[in-house]
Amino acid sequence: MTVKTMHTADVKDLLEKVAGFNQEGGNERVKKIVHRLMHDIFQIVEDFDVTAEEFWQAVYYVGDLGKNGEAALLAPGLGMDKYLDIRMDAEDEQAGLAGGTPRTIEGPLYVAGAPMSEGFARMDDGSDESAETMILTGQVTDENGQPVANAVVDVWHANTMGNYSYFDQSQTDYNLRRRIKTDENGRYTARSIIPAGYGCPPEGSTQALLNLLGRHGNRPAHIHFFIAKPGYKHLTTQINLAGDEYTYDDFAFATREELVVEANRIEDPAKAEQFGLNKPFTEVEFNIQLVATDKPELQSRHERKRALEGEAA
Ligand code: DHB
Ligand code: FE
Repeated sequence: MTVKTMHTADVKDLLEKVAGFNQEGGNERVKKIVHRLMHDIFQIVEDFDVTAEEFWQAVYYVGDLGKNGEAALLAPGLGMDKYLDIRMDAEDEQAGLAGGTPRTIEGPLYVAGAPMSEGFARMDDGSDESAETMILTGQVTDENGQPVANAVVDVWHANTMGNYSYFDQSQTDYNLRRRIKTDENGRYTARSIIPAGYGCPPEGSTQALLNLLGRHGNRPAHIHFFIAKPGYKHLTTQINLAGDEYTYDDFAFATREELVVEANRIEDPAKAEQFGLNKPFTEVEFNIQLVATDKPELQSRHERKRALEGEAA
């Protein structure tokens, strides 16, 4: 049975009351957005003839999503983070601030306040002896190719199980998380371990919805970056390692062609020794180009909830 009620005065009146249009107080923008949101949900119920059983399943889904802390995981899976990036790219284009290394999504697993060092950092705590050693290095430059010294390169990535310290309590504090200030040549270098890709919790709410969409919940092996320096646009980005099964099939839609990097195995003992290593390692090079801006609001990361932000030094 298909009934149509959206056009009725009863429904129009209900939506206006729901959104507080007949009330003095509150926030006008929120009222308008909630009005549109509820209208569109009502419309979906009508258009798809959503049953009461289906509707309550959706309500319980949202409850579970909150309970297991996956709302910020589902959002990228549904393309929201990527969509916001597309909008920010378009805004940059409009403001004449396009260019430089492309942005991509932050993801929900950043932890503020990682140890800071100058030029070089060791990121892993040495506990995973079977992991492949990674030397991650690059230069930060401006759009003219001039080195940018004293930029803060804030790097975080998963371990060989695809897990992130802090969220994975079995890892030491700030394992695989460091901030490195670029040296006078704009260079940064990290010694770490090659990360594995990430998979959504298999029994979680995000994966449950992805299953209904016939989608997987995997990300390729990747490394996150924030790069900041006064006078330049703050950059949130990631690199995806080439050759991963999911490099071009990321459930969170973060891959961009310019951000896919080769991981090069280095067998030369002389080169290993340069980094104080006595075995072959894998080198990953990521050079970063920043775009100058005098707008202070573009020079820092946008606000959102982040672990330990505001608490850590
Ligand atoms: C997501 C992003 C990540 O970087 C990650 O490691 C896991 C999940 C995400 O966007 O959902
Ligand atoms: Fe990640």
